[in-house]
Amino acid sequence: MAFFKGVPVAISGTGMYVPDRVLTNEDLSRMVDTSDEWIRERTGIRRRHIAEAGELTSEVALKAGRAALEAAGLVPSEIDMVMVATNSPDTLFPGVAPKVQGMLGAGRAGAFDVQSGCTSGVYSMALAAAGIASGIWRNVLVIGAEVLSPIVDWTDRNTCVLFGDGAGAVVLSPSCGNGRFLSAELRSDGTKHDQITFPGGLVENPASHETVEQKKHYVTMKGNDVFKFVNRVIPPFLRELCEDSGLSPEEIDWWFFHQANQRIIERAAERLGIASEKVFINLDEYGNTSAASVFIALSEFVKQGRLLPGQRLLFTAFGAGMTYGGVIYET
Ligand SMILES: CC(C)(COP(=O)(O)OP(=O)(O)OC[C@H]1O[C@@H](n2cnc3c(N)ncnc32)[C@H](O)[C@@H]1OP(=O)(O)O)[C@@H](O)C(=O)NCCC(=O)NCCS
Repeated sequence: MAFFKGVPVAISGTGMYVPDRVLTNEDLSRMVDTSDEWIRERTGIRRRHIAEAGELTSEVALKAGRAALEAAGLVPSEIDMVMVATNSPDTLFPGVAPKVQGMLGAGRAGAFDVQSGCTSGVYSMALAAAGIASGIWRNVLVIGAEVLSPIVDWTDRNTCVLFGDGAGAVVLSPSCGNGRFLSAELRSDGTKHDQITFPGGLVENPASHETVEQKKHYVTMKGNDVFKFVNRVIPPFLRELCEDSGLSPEEIDWWFFHQANQRIIERAAERLGIASEKVFINLDEYGNTSAASVFIALSEFVKQGRLLPGQRLLFTAFGAGMTYGGVIYET
């Protein structure tokens, strides 16, 4: 069952930042044995934005966070909590969120990272809404930020064509009128924890010459297993999420899927009977930006002037763990 129903919490601002540098499929075809045609047909991705050498996750997070705060009309001292959803933190500790909180000068805020694969963005949005609804916090800055490029193996065609860098952010605040989170459901199938991993450098595989030689300091993925898992689990999960919220899939106005793969999104939409016009897609431009993807999608949607009162938006993601989840928001 969905863990809350109709909490009066509103998205009061959105923002995003992506690095200027673009890597096209053509560029990749000169780096590994792949082609623009293969990548487009199998994934829908055409381009991805890549951070400059030395550009940190905390820096891209800060830029997206500042934009969201400005859109919300808030100053940093009004923020009670900074959450950063990320799988590519600058360092294991400190987290990215405390660095962002410090750079913002959000002197009254706490700060922590949410790291649960690509679902981290959806997890953190639900957590922030629940925290505001229960009175722990008033204004929460939730940022999804990734600089995955330094931890992607640029010689592995199975993974390097998929990912991109970037950040998106939302400010959540108590609703004064329109805006409420209708429901949220956060799940995991940890028996599949070996499907997407970054195995090196910590307790299981402490950094050594061997872990470097064995390329354990890169993202590894059983792509086809992930593909099958998501196709099997996500469509019925989303149907259940809608039903638990007293809605049918047709009553959702806009679907914000984790921007991992267009084929996955299209199959899910088909099985749920969702019209393609209701599905927001921007993975062609950004690739899979992991925890940032749903925030970047929402931010672009808002920039395009498409967010209107009375819409129901569904955000859903899946990723390493294997975690998955969904949140329904009414504008
Ligand atoms: C990665 C993915 C695009 C691969 O597509 P697929 O249809 O499953 O392809 P497979 O993995 O079965 O591989 C088919 C062939 O293409 C090859 N291939 C893989 N990547 C390639 C690339 N970039 N270019 C050309 N060929 C490639 C494989 O080596 C394989 O060749 P083989 O048959 O000679 O062994 C797809 O599985 C996928 O998107 N999975 C989900 C990944 C994801 O979303 N991860 C993030 C989750 S948060």
